[in-house]
Amino acid sequence: MTAPTLEIHLTDADLTEALRSDARYGLTSDPKTLPPKWFYDARGSELFEEITRLPEYYPTRTERALLERVVGEIAQVARAEVLVELGAGSAAKTRLLLSALGAAGPLKTYVPQDVSESALRGAAEQINAEFSGLAVHGVVSDFTDTLHNLPGGGRRMIAFLGGTIGNLIPAERAEFLAGVAAVLEPGEQLLLGAGLVIDPAVLVPAYDDAAGVTAEFNRNVLHVLNSRLHADFDPDAFTHIARWDAENEWIEMRLEATRDMTVTIPDLDLTVHFTRGEQMRTEISTKFRPDGLATELAAAGFDTEHIWTDPDDRFALILAARR
Ligand SMILES: C[S@@+](CC[C@H](N)C(=O)[O-])C[C@H]1O[C@@H](n2cnc3c(N)ncnc32)[C@H](O)[C@@H]1O
Repeated sequence: MTAPTLEIHLTDADLTEALRSDARYGLTSDPKTLPPKWFYDARGSELFEEITRLPEYYPTRTERALLERVVGEIAQVARAEVLVELGAGSAAKTRLLLSALGAAGPLKTYVPQDVSESALRGAAEQINAEFSGLAVHGVVSDFTDTLHNLPGGGRRMIAFLGGTIGNLIPAERAEFLAGVAAVLEPGEQLLLGAGLVIDPAVLVPAYDDAAGVTAEFNRNVLHVLNSRLHADFDPDAFTHIARWDAENEWIEMRLEATRDMTVTIPDLDLTVHFTRGEQMRTEISTKFRPDGLATELAAAGFDTEHIWTDPDDRFALILAARR
């Protein structure tokens, strides 16, 4: 068995530099914000895997069941020799796709991409061991700015599962989709997994579970700031908040300061004040309407070929081709 190869476009030093810039911008903004990619150090990636198994967290199991049901149909219309997966994480659901594309078509190569090197290494090694005959080539990079680094080497399908597209605000999403279109050749495909707008009574608990795993995941961004930038955040002094924003149709995760505090970040030469009750946004998770997504895809240069949804209309898989 050939070992999987790994291509690193984000070294540890690059990550620290990017975090410095995001933290300086976000912690001096009003209100304060931090981008969600900083949840995902090794511990954050493990916590996300725990979240996917929680009873309240319906998205992963819904997307998995939908993929199980329609993967044969996807394979019939897929033309991929190379499957590139953005934000692959543990790539748990991707095995369904790899089996179907490999059995029905010319698939030769799997390219998982993620900002989390630990998650990527684990996924690449396991898939390499499970799928003999498939070349596995991992890429550590940021899908918001280095899509041009993704390898070619055959007709591609880019998969972007898990509803991660919802973490981008509309302007970032438009830029991201245009960027994906720009790296694909006409006829190459995008398979997008997206959460749909549903009853907030089901949605909110998915981001605020009874066991407190999502709260721990949310606070992990403060541990990342402490370890990478030598900040002195007390994560226990922040409460996890998840609320549904009906106007923007997104879940917003925030961290709320439980007391007045001053945090120092020596590596940025920065002191940040929080007042009791102050909230800092750490993630949005947009929920979509299928027609709206098809319109956004069209604007980015894609023709939607198929939209599949689960029986409760909670999640959609969208297959689109570069025009
Ligand atoms: C919500 S999880 C989804 C994981 C997996 N695709 C799934 O469906 O279960 C988001 C994944 O995207 C990765 N990620 C987040 N922001 C990223 C970025 N800017 N560039 C690359 N990967 C990113 C995280 O490390 C994580 O593995």
